[in-house]
Amino acid sequence: MAGTTYTTVSEGNQFLDHITEKGLDNESIIQRFNEVSSKYNEALGSVNFMGPRTLAAILAELHPSGRENVRVLDVAAGTGLVAVELRKKGFVNNDGLEPSEQMLAEAKRNNLYGRYICDLVGENTFDIENDTYSAVTMSALSIEIFKKLPVKALEELARVVKPGGHILMVQYDYAFDSKVLKANFSNLEDRGLWKLIELRPVSDFTHGKPGLVSIHQVLM
Ligand SMILES: C[S@@+](CC[C@H](N)C(=O)[O-])C[C@H]1O[C@@H](n2cnc3c(N)ncnc32)[C@H](O)[C@@H]1O
Repeated sequence: MAGTTYTTVSEGNQFLDHITEKGLDNESIIQRFNEVSSKYNEALGSVNFMGPRTLAAILAELHPSGRENVRVLDVAAGTGLVAVELRKKGFVNNDGLEPSEQMLAEAKRNNLYGRYICDLVGENTFDIENDTYSAVTMSALSIEIFKKLPVKALEELARVVKPGGHILMVQYDYAFDSKVLKANFSNLEDRGLWKLIELRPVSDFTHGKPGLVSIHQVLM
């Protein structure tokens, strides 16, 4: 993979197949991202990946003004493509949480985040104070992990966002059909931790394939 180029759609799709292979545990997924980090931006560019641009545009709708004061936690930050798009919209106060050290190193090289938090979203507690952020963004968290996000993970996202703030997640649309994810989304809604504002379709999430964005508002 080191000497390979990923400039055509078909090369980009091969790259996506490699990083989304089914049956890998989380450790192996993170290892895979460590291995491909230097090729990630090129490969995702070749499939016209819309996740980062979509989330930045929605956050901009939610904050028509005062964006320099909006503090954002970008979860599964990868190489920082979301931060690049957030900055274009005037959001300059962004932290990144990402478990792959090599992906995070790419983001650091480009000086994209204030705080770089090398951590997972899962059953763990983040090293972040309650109510720190106005928004969480999560673009394309590895799909097998996304489909099984536990209640604890969603609680952590909600815990670090101030009441009234937002959690935006984007993935392929079929990922949102996951029974576990639906049940866990409802769990937080039933307990009054957040409410679903909108599920918004993305016509081309990656080249020709539809995605979906969930927009939640944190209530407490
Ligand atoms: C397809 S990349 C998306 C990166 C970035 N958000 C973007 O839109 O370009 C998926 C990222 O999820 C990260 N990841 C995998 N398991 C994770 C977990 N449990 N918690 C947080 N991030 C995870 C991977 O290391 C990888 O950087």
